[in-house]
Amino acid sequence: MKLQRARVVITGVSGGLGLALLRLLVANGNFVVGCARHKGDLDDKDIKSFHFYQLDVSKPKQASYLINSAAKVLGAIDVLINNASVTHGLKNTEEITPKEVLYCFRNNVFSTFNTLRYTLPIMKAQNNGLVINISSRCGRRAVPRLAAYCSTKFAIRGITEAVAKEAAGTGVKSISISPSGINTKMRSDLFGADESKKQQSPERVAEVLYSIMSGDIQVPNGADVLLLKEKEPILKVPET
Ligand SMILES: NC(=O)c1ccc[n+]([C@@H]2O[C@H](COP(=O)([O-])OP(=O)(O)OC[C@H]3O[C@@H](n4cnc5c(N)ncnc54)[C@H](OP(=O)(O)O)[C@@H]3O)[C@@H](O)[C@H]2O)c1
Repeated sequence: MKLQRARVVITGVSGGLGLALLRLLVANGNFVVGCARHKGDLDDKDIKSFHFYQLDVSKPKQASYLINSAAKVLGAIDVLINNASVTHGLKNTEEITPKEVLYCFRNNVFSTFNTLRYTLPIMKAQNNGLVINISSRCGRRAVPRLAAYCSTKFAIRGITEAVAKEAAGTGVKSISISPSGINTKMRSDLFGADESKKQQSPERVAEVLYSIMSGDIQVPNGADVLLLKEKEPILKVPET
């Protein structure tokens, strides 16, 4: 099914998965508001194709500005995709500094609370809306030497389920996606370019997200979609 004229907010559109998703949505006639702290890989054609806000969504006032501006320029918010995320250098848990822990939680977890704080009232008033939080396979199954990052991705699952339960019986849905490795800057910075190239492409993950938004892949409220390379998406339904 083709998704058209959907009004979508995406955090973290300057590269990787966010940029692939932005391009796919715009190419199919959807309206996007997106943000990042830098322009990154966005080219002039991208910038003209959507509403770009250069800001830091971990800061509540900037997140509020993003969401309220989105509601104004789009007229409504059908989908919010919390994609923005950072990681930290590979090290054992006892070596991770307080600054690194805070950096991960501020950008990955506080940012998600920030956009939800301002978006959920809008979606609840519309009685319609889909929240997609990008977690990770390592938000379901931690990997060594990435404890701060992994724990933020476990946290994303908790937020997703709580929002889903709070919104039960309304037209608002909250789900998460847990991809295995994606060939992006985040991955190559962590594990090197050669390892990153062996992972699934950001375009493939964007296609699956598009199919979820269009309804071709049906995901129950609160569920997580585990997305492994070259495998069909696997639905994980939360405990009640
Ligand atoms: N790559 C993987 O192997 C992998 C695997 C599983 C899940 N994921 C998840 O997939 C999502 C996308 O990751 P990716 O690999 O595409 O990473 P990426 O290439 O590093 O992109 C991350 C994006 O988030 C933005 N961002 C970070 N903090 C921000 C903030 N506070 N405010 C606004 N924008 C912010 C970055 O732009 P600026 O730096 O310009 O702000 C960038 O546009 C993340 O949630 C990640 O955890 C990745």
